[in-house]
This record gives sequence, C-alpha cells and structure tokens, in this order.
Amino acid sequence: MDRRSLGRTGLEVAPIGFGAVKIGRNRGLKYPRGHALPDAAGVGRLLHGIVDLGINLIDTAPAYGTSEALIGRHLAARRDEIVLATKVGERFGDGRSTFDFSAAGLRRSIDASLRALRTDAVDILLLHSDGHDLDILAHSDAVPVLMEARERGRARCIGLSGKTVAGARAALGWADVLMLTYNLDDASHAPVLAEAAAAGVGVLVKKALASGHLDAAAAIAFATAPAAVGAAVIGSLSLDHMRQNLAAARDPAAAHGTPRATPGDRPHA
Ligand SMILES: NC(=O)c1ccc[n+]([C@@H]2O[C@H](COP(=O)([O-])OP(=O)(O)OC[C@H]3O[C@@H](n4cnc5c(N)ncnc54)[C@H](OP(=O)(O)O)[C@@H]3O)[C@@H](O)[C@H]2O)c1
Repeated sequence: MDRRSLGRTGLEVAPIGFGAVKIGRNRGLKYPRGHALPDAAGVGRLLHGIVDLGINLIDTAPAYGTSEALIGRHLAARRDEIVLATKVGERFGDGRSTFDFSAAGLRRSIDASLRALRTDAVDILLLHSDGHDLDILAHSDAVPVLMEARERGRARCIGLSGKTVAGARAALGWADVLMLTYNLDDASHAPVLAEAAAAGVGVLVKKALASGHLDAAAAIAFATAPAAVGAAVIGSLSLDHMRQNLAAARDPAAAHGTPRATPGDRPHA
C-alpha cells in the first residue's frame, strides 16, 4: 500500500483522500450536476468500500450537512484505520453557510464534531475559511483556539483550509497542514507547495477536479505530481470513480499518458 508522509505530522496517507461533502449535503455546491443524498445503507457501503480500497484519509466538516454524523456512525469501529480530518468555523443550515470564528463558537463546534464523529480526537482540524483568510488569521480567535485544541489532545494536527495564496503563506508559521486548491484550471498556489515542503507543512489538495469540471485522470495526475502534496481529497459518491482516482494517482502514466510537470516539481521519494 502506497503511503505519503503528510509534511512532518507523522501522518501517512494514500495519495487520494475521500472528500465527504456529497454524502451529507446537496445544496449550495459547485458540481456540474445536482445529486440526491444516498440512503444510510448506501453511505455505509461507500465508506467501507473506500477504506477497503486503501484510501485512509477522510475529510469532512460541520458545513457538510450530515457528513460527520454518517462517518461517525459507519466508521467509528474502524477509527484506527483512518486519518480523520474535519473543520471549524463554517456551518451549513437552511440552505446557506454561516461563519463563526469566536472562541466560544469554535469550541462549541469542535465539541459537536467530536460527538458526531464518535471520537475523542481528530487527526486533522482545519480552519474553514470564508475567503477572508488573512483577516480571520489576524483578527479572530481561530488560531489560538486551534492551538488549544491541539494542546488538549482534541486534534493531533491543525491547519488552514483557505482560499488565498496570502492566507496559505501566513499559515505556514503555525499550521501543520494546509488544504488548498490546486488544479489544471487554477495553479495559483503552486509557489506555496515548495514553501510548505521547506517548512515541513503537509499539503492536502481540494478541488483537484475543479469540483468535477476536469477530466479526472489528467487532473489527478496533475494534482498529485508535486512531492509536497500528501493527498488530493476527491469528492465522490462512486466507489468506481474512487478506485479509478487511486489508480490514476498511483500510476499516472498508465491511467492517462505522461503526467504533466509543473515548475518546481520534485520527483516523489
Ligand atoms: N473550503 C474547504 O475547506 C473546501 C472546499 C471545497 C472542497 N473541500 C474538500 O475537497 C473535496 C474535493 O472538492 P470537491 O468535492 O468540491 O471537488 P472535486 O474533488 O474536484 O470533484 C468532485 C466531483 O468530481 C466527480 N468525480 C470524482 N471522481 C471522478 C472520476 N473518476 N470520474 C468522473 N468524475 C469524478 C464527483 O462525482 P461522482 O460522485 O460522480 O464521482 C464529484 O462531483 C471536498 O469533498 C471537500 O472534502 C474543502
């Protein structure tokens, strides 16, 4: 089983992670097509199937509707097989997102996530930015509360799931992990990849397929090529797609011709 080191976190992840949005939420998303939420049995089959494939990173958030509760229900018994990531700062209800970066709101959210996920601690806790990355980092309680959660053993690693290059750079000073967009349509974070690697900060790529708007094999080869990338976290309701995605990351040439190089790429160790 191929595993990549996630920066200096000590976590080892398969090159494809599972982004658990679609199992719990079907409103206000950027996918090409709408989807019906799967029933509980379907979610169980999907989650167990994904772990059985060897995909060990599961990425969720309070903003993903019922996603955390479904993961807790189906995967609590397999907790030691997975690297569990969730987020804090955004919630989703009545068809819209709301954000609360106050210390009390963040602590409440962490408590609720651990209850829903049926665990004492997550492996990765990310700040779920509303897009104003620098403002949140500089003027909210978020970073101290994340550090407190790590000190109290409620999160093994902390970091930022942001939207801006400036935010990602600012987080390099305190984060263990960055989640950032990096795909064939938007490689604006490319310079941050090398900076994160130099700082020992792990990188998780979100939206590698531009939320389903790119050819999957080529997009995965691109997103997982940089040595700094621990995993590309892909959203899906299809076990077949996740199997294909893992194959494309493991053997990009076989999946879709030669992988595209990006400036500053280093070969995988
Ligand atoms: N701010 C944040 O923190 C943030 C924001 C966005 C995303 N994320 C994380 O990143 C994850 C990925 O982002 P995303 O879900 O927006 O987009 P994505 O991974 O770029 O694309 C997912 C879409 O691609 C389709 N897909 C996946 N594999 C495929 C394949 N082999 N062939 C054809 N289609 C395929 C999926 O449909 P099927 O169901 O048909 O496979 C799904 O609709 C999220 O799930 C979430 O965990 C975080």
